[in-house]
Amino acid sequence: MDLSTKYLGLDLKHPVVASPSQLSADLDGVLRLADAGAAAIVMASIYEEQISAEEIRHAALTDQGADSQPEAAGYFSTREDRGVLESRLEILRKASERAGVPIIASLNGQSDAGWVGFAQKLQQAGASAIELNIYRVPADSAETGAQVEESYAAIVRAVKQQVSIPVAVKIAPFFSSPANLATKLAGAGADGLVLFNRFYEPDIDLKTLTPQVNLHLSTPYDIRVPLMWISLISPRFKGSIAATTGVWSGEEVVKYLIVGADVAMTASALVKFGPAHIGVLVSGLRDWMERRGFASLDAFRGRLADHRRAFDAAALMRAEYRDILTAGYASVIR
Ligand SMILES: Cc1cc2nc3c(=O)[nH]c(=O)nc-3n(C[C@H](O)[C@H](O)[C@H](O)COP(=O)(O)O)c2cc1C
Repeated sequence: MDLSTKYLGLDLKHPVVASPSQLSADLDGVLRLADAGAAAIVMASIYEEQISAEEIRHAALTDQGADSQPEAAGYFSTREDRGVLESRLEILRKASERAGVPIIASLNGQSDAGWVGFAQKLQQAGASAIELNIYRVPADSAETGAQVEESYAAIVRAVKQQVSIPVAVKIAPFFSSPANLATKLAGAGADGLVLFNRFYEPDIDLKTLTPQVNLHLSTPYDIRVPLMWISLISPRFKGSIAATTGVWSGEEVVKYLIVGADVAMTASALVKFGPAHIGVLVSGLRDWMERRGFASLDAFRGRLADHRRAFDAAALMRAEYRDILTAGYASVIR
């Protein structure tokens, strides 16, 4: 049985990829994920703020003397902090040499300022590709949706000018028209999309009346939003598509492939069960293919991608929605 797939032009032995988390933040973790059989590993993100702060500190220490920008230098007050970016590059360098599978570096930011130049260093350190996680909350009511989208495209263009390796863009689902944004990002040079980023919205603690910011792991139920959008976007998007969110078993891997994803990424399940869970996902996929008599991923990938004309797809989805809410009361799961 052939589980091989291509993602961002990289040849992968199967479609299960480790999504960034604390497990891919250090060399030991990356090598454990590789030993456990991950087809590729996306390292934990390097953040725009880390890069900017390090640059400010560097300027403070070299150009104008350590005391001239004390508050800037204060970003990195300890010896460990000072080498944070250099040590991340070193981990990437070693991981790329030793892991035996493609290592994808993740850059996480929100502006197209100078920090995107760091992408070049990631390529030099051996990254096979870059995953650009654009995470920002458009809190300004004067900013239009078109402006928000253009800011995403500008970051992609800026990063693409820095590197020759493939660049995938990880976005959230909260856009007026995700399918149109996908086209815009492809126009800006994106080689792939990672759908979708999870937002970590705060709750409220009613005892202390304070916002409660905490991280909840996903559940398989959470695949539904990416599943729908990947089904709509995949037939019309020329680059690669990675599905992220809710992959806990081989079933979610299968579902994402059926709607047209090239790979399925997983983080929560690995955080909970450890890297060995990759084996569970791959054998779940293999078992399902065996039962159905599929010899390769291409035998079923994209079967439920939405190839209807956009107008028909929209009309049918509207009809389904109406039917579910009006006639489907009896099927509500309690
Ligand atoms: C503990 C934890 C740490 C994460 N760190 C990162 C990160 O550094 N960069 C990033 O792009 N996504 C990060 N994510 C998001 C995941 O990579 C993934 O896209 C998201 O959690 C959805 O997948 P899942 O349902 O398998 O968790 C993190 C998720 C978790 C749970």
